[in-house]
Amino acid sequence: QEAHAAEMERTFIAIKPDGVQRGLIAEIISRFERKGFKLVAIKLVVPSKEFAQKHYHDLKERPFFNGLCEFLSSGPVLAMVWEGEGVIKYGRKLIGATDPQKSEPGTIRGDLAVVVGRNIIHGSDGPETAKDEINLWFKPQELVTYTSNAEKWVY
Ligand code: PPS
Repeated sequence: QEAHAAEMERTFIAIKPDGVQRGLIAEIISRFERKGFKLVAIKLVVPSKEFAQKHYHDLKERPFFNGLCEFLSSGPVLAMVWEGEGVIKYGRKLIGATDPQKSEPGTIRGDLAVVVGRNIIHGSDGPETAKDEINLWFKPQELVTYTSNAEKWVY
């Protein structure tokens, strides 16, 4: 059981400044919790612009890069690591399509956001990015290993 937990997939999820300011923290966390995923790290931070540029380094050629980095560093961000079977891909499913005009109702962005520049949440798009983003935002000792009571009923 311990070995199982140690190998569990992890993803980086962030509630961006718009989501925090709009009071959507509990709503968003609740969706991940109810699904059966496990929270293993969480902190509220105001990232610097330089930090935001690191986080979005893959997008530096895009026209919205500067605005996106300004936005991410404009206020508190709730940074989290969630754990569970298939959490990277399914986390993206819970979040919904990048452009809230295209995200399905029932998804976080579909239900709670209207435009792409204010789409309230970020989730890693694959195993490599998940690893990189977790390492960027968290020190290893900030990731908490524990057995949740629910786990034996989820798996
Ligand atoms: S995806 O999901 O990676 O394929 O989406 P992509 O279109 O590559 O977008 C990557 C991140 O850029 C944000 N984005 C934008 N921000 C502001 N304005 C515009 N037009 C825009 N288009 C895309 C998008 O929300 C993604 O950020 P995160 O934080 O990862 O959601």
